[in-house]
Amino acid sequence: AALRNRSSSSSSHLLRRCYSSESAPERKVAILGAAGGIGQPLALLMKLNPLVSKLSLYDIAGTPGVAADVSHINTRSEVAGFMGEDQLGQALEGSDIVIIPAGVPRKPGMTRDDLFNINAGIVKSLCTAIAKYCPNALVNMISNPVNSTVPIAAEVFKKAGTYDEKKLFGVTTLDVVRAKTFYAGKAKVPVSEVNVPVVGGHAGITILPLFSQATPKSNLADDEIAALTKRTQDGGTEVVEAKAGKGSATLSMAYAGAVFADACLKGLNGVPDVVECSFVQSNVTELTFFASKVRLGKNGVEEVLGLGPLSDYEKQGLESLKPELKASIEKGIKFASAN
Ligand code: NAD
Ligand code: LMR
Repeated sequence: AALRNRSSSSSSHLLRRCYSSESAPERKVAILGAAGGIGQPLALLMKLNPLVSKLSLYDIAGTPGVAADVSHINTRSEVAGFMGEDQLGQALEGSDIVIIPAGVPRKPGMTRDDLFNINAGIVKSLCTAIAKYCPNALVNMISNPVNSTVPIAAEVFKKAGTYDEKKLFGVTTLDVVRAKTFYAGKAKVPVSEVNVPVVGGHAGITILPLFSQATPKSNLADDEIAALTKRTQDGGTEVVEAKAGKGSATLSMAYAGAVFADACLKGLNGVPDVVECSFVQSNVTELTFFASKVRLGKNGVEEVLGLGPLSDYEKQGLESLKPELKASIEKGIKFASAN
């Protein structure tokens, strides 16, 4: 009986080692802006992710409460809250991934670019600290305008001598989440099976869903594709207007941010064929940053994938978005060089 007990306990130990999350590598994830509308539900979702071993929650205010609350959840990661600039270094040290939803959101009538004046400075100072305290971390930029904040981050890292284009990501996953939801509804296909790449950038017409490549296939008419495209491009505004002055998408964004961070963690851990759309340094078009499918790996971006075949409608959309996206990229670079 003793033998039986020993062997069953050692096999259950083995099973635990093989299958439990405890065998996944140690990974520290930091969220900057963790007490905000996105930050709080994102902290919750990352606390539920078994690939995370340390969860670091930073904000200029409110993080002790959020951290205490989330820390009581009985999942793998240890949670720590950090508040105020003098704790930013500690919050960042040793991070594998830094997710940035810090900054002001839109109100009705505003464009994402109207957030530039406030958010550019916030992103610049946070990225300066990342360059100092965790220069090897993957950065998931959520703060708007993403089309400019990602180039700002790149410039800050270049100045600090830490820039690695494989490690900087603009999070455009919410555009993909929306495109999938809206397509499934229109095409009457199961939403869990839907895939749709979304390319370009993350504002208005720079968001270009490629419904011609959507799966499962459907026979949607041209006007239906045009309506789906417009709804995806205006998805953020739809939420801003519905919230009527109380901010922009937070819950769906937290979900999208958690999906993207999970993909980054899987890539870091060596899981093969992890592909997500993201706004990254790119050679896919003549623009220096562009969102497209990206294969994630142990060093971040493993491969920036091409656009694939486009419909005439999408080709037109691609040409129309380029001037706006180019201007937003240049605006970010100019800000970072001047400040
Ligand atoms: P929010 O105002 O609810 O939260 C922002 C948080 O950032 C606040 O808690 C604030 O204290 C914090 N913050 C401000 N300055 C900071 C600093 N220097 N360091 C650390 N934290 C700081 O806003 P929200 O709804 O969470 O939105 C945050 C940002 O995300 C906005 O810019 C919004 O436009 C953007 N956003 C992007 C996407 C996307 O798809 N990429 C989607 C939704 C929202
Ligand atoms: C979104 O797409 O929901 C975000 O970029 C927030 C916004 O301002 O629309």
